[in-house]
This record gives sequence, C-alpha cells and structure tokens, in this order.
Amino acid sequence: MIYFSMSRLKFFTSGESHGKALTGILEGIPANLALSSPDIDAELKRRQSGFGRGGRMKIESDHAEILSGVRWGRTIGSPLALLIENRDHKNWVEGMSEDARFRGSIPAVTKPRPGHADLAGAIKYHQHDIRNILERSSARETAMRVALGAVAKKFLSDFGIKVGSYVIQIGKVQSSKFKVQSSEKELFEIFEKAETSPVRCPDTDASRGMVELIEGAMKEGNSLGGVFEVFVTGAPVGLGSHIQWDRKLDGRLAQALMSIQAIKAVEIGLGFEMSGRSGSEVMDEIFYRGESPSPGFYRKTNNAGGIEGGMTNGMPIIIRAGMKPIPTLRRPLNSVDIISKEPFGAAYERSDVCAAPAASVVGEAMTALVIADAVIEKFGGDSMEEVTGNFKAYLEYVKQF
Ligand SMILES: Cc1cc2nc3c(=O)[nH]c(=O)nc-3n(C[C@H](O)[C@H](O)[C@H](O)COP(=O)(O)O)c2cc1C
Repeated sequence: MIYFSMSRLKFFTSGESHGKALTGILEGIPANLALSSPDIDAELKRRQSGFGRGGRMKIESDHAEILSGVRWGRTIGSPLALLIENRDHKNWVEGMSEDARFRGSIPAVTKPRPGHADLAGAIKYHQHDIRNILERSSARETAMRVALGAVAKKFLSDFGIKVGSYVIQIGKVQSSKFKVQSSEKELFEIFEKAETSPVRCPDTDASRGMVELIEGAMKEGNSLGGVFEVFVTGAPVGLGSHIQWDRKLDGRLAQALMSIQAIKAVEIGLGFEMSGRSGSEVMDEIFYRGESPSPGFYRKTNNAGGIEGGMTNGMPIIIRAGMKPIPTLRRPLNSVDIISKEPFGAAYERSDVCAAPAASVVGEAMTALVIADAVIEKFGGDSMEEVTGNFKAYLEYVKQF
C-alpha cells in the first residue's frame, strides 16, 4: 500500500464519477497468479447489490478490463492496470469533457452539500464549480478499490486466506451479536447467510427489520448508516510487526478501512467494548496442546480480533467499521451558495439511502489489499512459486516452534 514505507503492494486509482472510466494500477503481485476479469467482475457485482442503493446502480453494470500485467490467464509480475467504464458517461460527454470548448456546457454547481467534500474541497482547490470536487470525492471510486481488492483476494486464496464481511447494524436495528468469538467455521456460515440477505445481514429477523427501516427512510427522504464486520481466516501468525508504527497491522487496517467514503469508526476485536472491562476479562489466555491433529499454541477466546502487538496471532482477524448516514438527502439540509452567499435547502440528486451493505464489500477489498501486502512483505518473492515455497517453509517452522 502506498501509504506505508514498508509497502510491497502499491495501488492507485483515478477517475471521476461521471468521467469516461475509472482506472487502477496495482504493483507488487508476483508472477504466475491465475487471474481473469470474471474473477474481478464477481466482486464488482457484490458491491453493486444491496437494498437501499440509488438509481446509479441500475445504470452501471461494472466490468473490469485488464489492460496490462496479465498474459494468457496469468500475471507476469508487471504492474496490473484495470479499467472500469462509467456507463453513465454517455449522458455527460460534454459536461465532463477534457476539451476547453465545452466549458460552461452545463451549469456550475455552486451549492455545497453538508457531509460531503464539497465546501472544503472548493476552498482548498480554488474551485467555483463544486463538480470539480464532487466528481472525485464520490464513492464511485470504490468500484476500482473493489476490483483491485479482488486481485488481492485471488492472491490470498492461493495461501488459504479468506476475507469476508457481513452487516451487523443499520440505523438502530442490530443483528444478534455475531461477534469476535466465532470460529473459522462459524464465520464461513455467517458469511454464507449474509450473502443471501438483501442487506448482507446474517440474522434473518434483523435483516427484515433493516429492510423495513430503509423503506421508511426512503419514504421520509432520509438516509441511514450502519456497522459491518470484516473477517480474515487462515492468516498465519506473524503478519505485520511490532517494531515500527507504520508496520503495525492493526494501524494499517484501520487506515485502509477509515479511508472508505463515510466510514467514521474502526474497531479491532472487542474494540471500544474492551475499554470498559477489566484486564482479566479481555486478554486471550495462551494454551498449548501437544497432540494431533493440530498441535501447538491456541486460545479459547479472540477478544483481540486476531492481532496482538501489531501482528497476527493466528486467530481470525475481526474488524468492525461504522458508516455515517448517507449525506445526500431528499429532505433539504441548510447550506449556503458559494457565489451568492445566499442560504438554501440543499438540492437532491439521485442517491443511495443506505450503502452499508456495499461498503462492507469495499471493506473486504481494502482488508484484502492490506493483508496481501503483509503476506508479500513477509514471504516476498517475484513468482507465486517463490512466495508459496517461503510460506510453506514458514508454516513448517511455526509447527516446530
Ligand atoms: C459504497 C458507498 C456508496 C455511497 N453512496 C453515496 C450516495 O449515493 N450519496 C451520497 O451522498 N453519499 C454516498 N456515499 C458516502 C459519500 O461518498 C461520503 O460520505 C462523502 O464522500 C464524504 O466523505 P466522508 O463521509 O468520508 O467525510 C457512499 C459511500 C460508500 C462507501
């Protein structure tokens, strides 16, 4: 990831919401990983689903074209470049053209929406047409993060590492607690249930309640936020490090999750709940068994969410992220025109009412990119053969420890 000095896996995205396309570059994936665009499109489809999305999702049916880095179905070690066309661009050809002749072909946006990058971005970048800010701050960009994350997931799956997510709260409706103590098997079951829910919630009653709540918000012209959990299974002990602030895996995950549009809180394991309990209640005590089938150190609890001292400890990684309600509302919010300085009630544009289910898929992608980076950092190599060899040797060593 580009933000951290030790990063081996770097990525960038570019593209405006109504521009021609989103593009993404991912560098650091070893050669010989089997990869094709259907692997990526399946994840893009998951991001587009979920009850509570707006009209845009009906226009876009995302497909990632692989422009470079793959030959005959396998990566070749060079940077991967992906392109996702914005199908809505056909309605914005002049309005979003790079050609100066079309300047003024659509009216400037001068009314900043509360809760968006609009006002701060216009001031910071010296813009009097807020479109020059909102086009990039839009969560449309997360489609490319999901595409790049799909590559990271494919890479991780070769090492038996899986990333999934589910929604545990929308507005005030909470699912019964599927929290940090779940085993790998339980996490997979929860995930499978979530995949069949319109709001990606594994609890059927809560799922129904969430849909009703979203329907109510739609009628009222209001919006909702939510909370989702991301889990990682199969990560070996020792990803990340305690030795420097920017190598700590919990810190890297928190930044990655927090960077998603509208995510305002991230917790690892028990998170905030830990702060209100005593030490004897929350530390995951260490046990050892010598016998087969899985001899070695083990824990009976996972309050730490799989990370201690900035490193994986072999338990499932559990991260929770809180999303604020969607800031664009049909109900007008007070704001002030940046040119006339007149107050107005913020105008409504087509928008999601609740995007927590989609955000959870974006959360998976960001998590996968961080974990893939940590795997490459620890087991680095230029080909999948080399990384797999290093990975297997390390697992043998851990068994003997
Ligand atoms: C998947 C996803 C979809 C979103 N859809 C919308 C939307 O339709 N309308 C909207 O106003 N905000 C939407 N947002 C949230 C805004 O992009 C975000 O609140 C805004 O860019 C300001 O950033 P901040 O909330 O991180 O400060 C969405 C966020 C995500 C993750």
